Amino acid sequence: MALQLFIIFALSLLLGIASAIDVFRGMEIGYSGHNGPGKWGKLNPTFSPCSTGKRQSPINIQRNLTVHNKLLKPLTRNYESANATLVNRGYSVGVRFEESPGDLLINGKNYTLQQFHWHLPAEHHIEGQRFAAELHMVHRAADNSAVVVSMLYHESKADPLFSMVMSISKEQITTLDSPLNSHCKKNARPCQPLNGREVDMYDELK
Ligand SMILES: *[C@@H]1O[C@H](CO)[C@@H](O)[C@H](O)[C@H]1NC(C)=O
Ligand SMILES: *[C@@H]1O[C@H](CO)[C@@H](O)[C@H](O)[C@H]1NC(C)=O
Ligand SMILES: *[C@@H]1O[C@H](CO)[C@@H](O)[C@H](O)[C@H]1NC(C)=O
Repeated sequence: MALQLFIIFALSLLLGIASAIDVFRGMEIGYSGHNGPGKWGKLNPTFSPCSTGKRQSPINIQRNLTVHNKLLKPLTRNYESANATLVNRGYSVGVRFEESPGDLLINGKNYTLQQFHWHLPAEHHIEGQRFAAELHMVHRAADNSAVVVSMLYHESKADPLFSMVMSISKEQITTLDSPLNSHCKKNARPCQPLNGREVDMYDELK
């Protein structure tokens, strides 16, 4: 069930997150203190949607408010192994690829995987529940539009028997969290209002 949820989740939130990610480079953003999420909109003119935008992420996903959309298709992802560098950006720890490991096709459009990074704890909620961590896989198309595929992790002891279910141990959380700047610990922005947005659901069993 958990896996299904990740896939649904990935498809539901394709756009909107990524544009905020790379522009953070070099900015003194924080997740607490004087440059915390409530101040992001004032840190830089290009960040004003953080205050005024009506399509902000993350959100809380309530199943009873989602719409089953039969037009949605499974994600087509073609990834291969690639050399990568673990990077501490101060506000998140992530992986940068020397060569892209592959791409994602949505409605015939090609989005190349550029980087991924973790949020600890998770940013998106499901039924008001917050997960231990969230991985954001950032893809970009030639026209610079972005798709972020997100995966949520439960906290549990590493258990190879359940390796299909995304889980993260306390030790792994500490490893990913400890290099972050002091104002960027717990790098999860609070949930944002839906403002009438519809969250579409893909269910491979229907
Ligand atoms: C990773 O880098 C090493 C050393 O440069 C190279 O031998 C290897 O083929 C690379 N692997 C991939 C998957 O590109
Ligand atoms: C997607 O774009 C990448 C990078 O430009 C390219 O290597 C790849 O072949 C493309 N894939 C498809 C299915 O068009
Ligand atoms: C949807 O479920 C939530 C609990 O997750 C409940 O609080 C809410 O009233 C429900 N809304 C509708 C429209 O059924």
